[in-house]
Amino acid sequence: MNLGAENNEIKEQINKLFSSILIEQQKINAIKGPDVGKENLIQTILDDFASDRGATLFFNYLSSGKGHGPFSQLVDGSVKYDLIEGIGVNLLGHSHPLYIKAHLEMATCDTVMCGNLLSYDQARQTTKAILDSVKNSRLKHFWYACSGSLSNDIALKIIWQKKAPKYKIFAFEKAFAGRSVATQDITYNAGYREGMLKTIPVTHVPHYDYTDPEGTLDKTLRALNDAWNAEPDAYAALMMELVQGEAGFIYGTKEYYSAIFKWAKEKGLYVWVDEVQSFARTHQLFAFQMFGLDEYVDVVTIGKVAQVCGAIYTDELNPKKGLIAGTFNGSMVALDTARKTLRYLQEGNFYGPKGRIAELESIFINKLKYLANNSCKGKIGYIGGVGTMISFEVGDSTLDLTNAFIKNLFNNGVIAFSAGKNPARVRFLLPLSLTDHHIDEIFKIIDTTVHQTIS
Ligand SMILES: Cc1ncc(COP(=O)(O)O)c(C=O)c1O
Repeated sequence: MNLGAENNEIKEQINKLFSSILIEQQKINAIKGPDVGKENLIQTILDDFASDRGATLFFNYLSSGKGHGPFSQLVDGSVKYDLIEGIGVNLLGHSHPLYIKAHLEMATCDTVMCGNLLSYDQARQTTKAILDSVKNSRLKHFWYACSGSLSNDIALKIIWQKKAPKYKIFAFEKAFAGRSVATQDITYNAGYREGMLKTIPVTHVPHYDYTDPEGTLDKTLRALNDAWNAEPDAYAALMMELVQGEAGFIYGTKEYYSAIFKWAKEKGLYVWVDEVQSFARTHQLFAFQMFGLDEYVDVVTIGKVAQVCGAIYTDELNPKKGLIAGTFNGSMVALDTARKTLRYLQEGNFYGPKGRIAELESIFINKLKYLANNSCKGKIGYIGGVGTMISFEVGDSTLDLTNAFIKNLFNNGVIAFSAGKNPARVRFLLPLSLTDHHIDEIFKIIDTTVHQTIS
């Protein structure tokens, strides 16, 4: 179904604009330093911005709105490799043709944001595409939210409505579920909820321990059983990130997850999987699909790469009217981009053991291992991750040293971010637009930066 103002001239103009914008954006195709005379421009602008927000920004980064593939241009004219993408939003890379097309096509529409009460075909079609992508599971409904945290709020509310007065949740150590009033209690880091009233009863148990693959399942099951035996009538659900993003990509095995989810089902608990960060980034569209867990999941939350946020859930969890609603479904562009992104990812050669995502994972891990065994011996420790989520530890793995490394890496032309603490890890959320040539250049910069940071 077409939507918005439409005639031959508009179509022609859209096509012309599409190629003009793409040609212009494609000029951003190599890293470089700031333009002469603009070396202090970003610092000056950001000092002002920081004063307005009451908090400094981690990076001296202000986008010019120009970028292409893995490259992002800053307002001072400098260009960097963006390997963190606003914490995982731009899997396809900057100014992907599909993004440009969605913007232009949705400019013909009569609104910016799609309301929940009076819907548009973009919301309907995107919901269909999302549900189609989980058709082998028991998930049957999707509801939009305006952030990953609020997607998790939806999951929590629909579970609570079915389980009241059992409100307690099993979650995992090092989890990150967001910062809403509800999710801040599921998020493990107590530093993120200083001075907050505790609103949700949560029991955190250990996640997969890669240093003890033999004993890790027993450790988790023991913690679950201990808590369950102490309060057998208290729990509603088990909530889990299969790949813990903010922890530095901690993840287990199919056997580990199957045993835990089986345990949860035996206890009558709902299984709630948070894929806000992992969606579209593992060897399948969803991590629960990669680990073959379709039969267990009752609710899955998404955000970031999807361009829209929300919860996908079973018919059983469909709540009573009025429990979940809000003004917005998302912007028209985000809704349109979400559907186009899903189709692009599913039709391209990205998933499966031979897909580009598995290939990127193995290239990055092998190259990091090579550095760790050769020029960076003793300076790079842990190396891991799955799909386009790659992490490694530098030096003593303290947050201070890791952040110093990340700042040096930024100044040298590669944007990464940290994850976790004790140990802290350098985190990449890789875009699919990386070529072998880009990767070679990135690794030269990593090598130089390791030596610059760690003597
Ligand atoms: C696993 C996970 N859940 C939830 C969230 C919260 O999403 P948002 O920041 O969009 O509220 C995040 C954000 O990083 C996340 O990684």
